[in-house]
Amino acid sequence: MKYIIDTDPGHDDFFAILYAMRRLDVIGLTTVFGNSTVDNTTQNALRICDFAKLDVPVAMGAAEPIVGDFVVSAIHGTDGLEGGKSIPQTERHTDPRDAVQFLIEMGRAHAGKLSLIVLGPMTNIALALRDEPKLAEWISEISFMGGSTGTGNVTAFAEANVWKDPEAAQMVLTSGIPMRMAGLNLTNQARLSQIHVDRLANAGTKIGRHASEILDFYLTQHSARYTRTDGPMHDPSAVISLVHPDLFEFRDTAVSVELASPLLRGMTVCDMREIEPFPGEVLPTTNVKVGVRLNGPACVDAMIEAILEYH
Ligand code: BDR
Ligand code: CA
Repeated sequence: MKYIIDTDPGHDDFFAILYAMRRLDVIGLTTVFGNSTVDNTTQNALRICDFAKLDVPVAMGAAEPIVGDFVVSAIHGTDGLEGGKSIPQTERHTDPRDAVQFLIEMGRAHAGKLSLIVLGPMTNIALALRDEPKLAEWISEISFMGGSTGTGNVTAFAEANVWKDPEAAQMVLTSGIPMRMAGLNLTNQARLSQIHVDRLANAGTKIGRHASEILDFYLTQHSARYTRTDGPMHDPSAVISLVHPDLFEFRDTAVSVELASPLLRGMTVCDMREIEPFPGEVLPTTNVKVGVRLNGPACVDAMIEAILEYH
């Protein structure tokens, strides 16, 4: 299976990209607004690739959601990847194709053998599906970080990636593409802490040192926002579930995105009732494998080990 990572780097995207590149056949990155502007997230993706010597095309994507305005996440600092001695600027350029063209071309070329890992708002995927509906048949699966079966992070019930483009998320969730969700309820079970900052810093590798500074910034931001000193491993969890499915438990669930209510907009409504239909009753169709449990320490170790393979 080949993979494209659609991403808005992003501290946790940084770790997810490096992890994925060591463990999966990644044929490109597509970028999207989210943790910062798309100009910044694209630059960050190029900087990460250059710095870690990753030779993949980076295709720039959407700058704003399908409906409404884009709101930057303060938690990722000034440029989406703030922290420590920053990763050097790069001369690398984006692919001549934009994200939508890239997704469609790759989908056509690798039909049935291409999956997507989506780590930001789903705008690029929704726009690509709108331009080329056959993409839904070509893509084998989408593993995404987003949503929640319970509490949100941007609002009481909405998670950032879905909240930033709820219409796009709903289009993708109803496209018929098999979906695998790593929502907050799952990713909050994998915790990064000072122990991991130290482990990365003391490993004696250049990437380990930079990764420790990036993680340190991320944890500082999280502890200012939340009442604990460790932080959630969001984006890497959506990748690790593909490499180590044994560390995860998923449940087939009907999921829709709330679009109308001002209070609940961007909420992923996960129908987790364990019920049989009454005679004549039609229950909502299950469309997503929703992650409900993961082995946190094993997932974190898997991620750190992969980062320490870089020199
Ligand atoms: C998600 O939003 C971003 O802040 C992170 O990169 C992650 O993809 C978590 O809600
Ligand atoms: Ca992200």
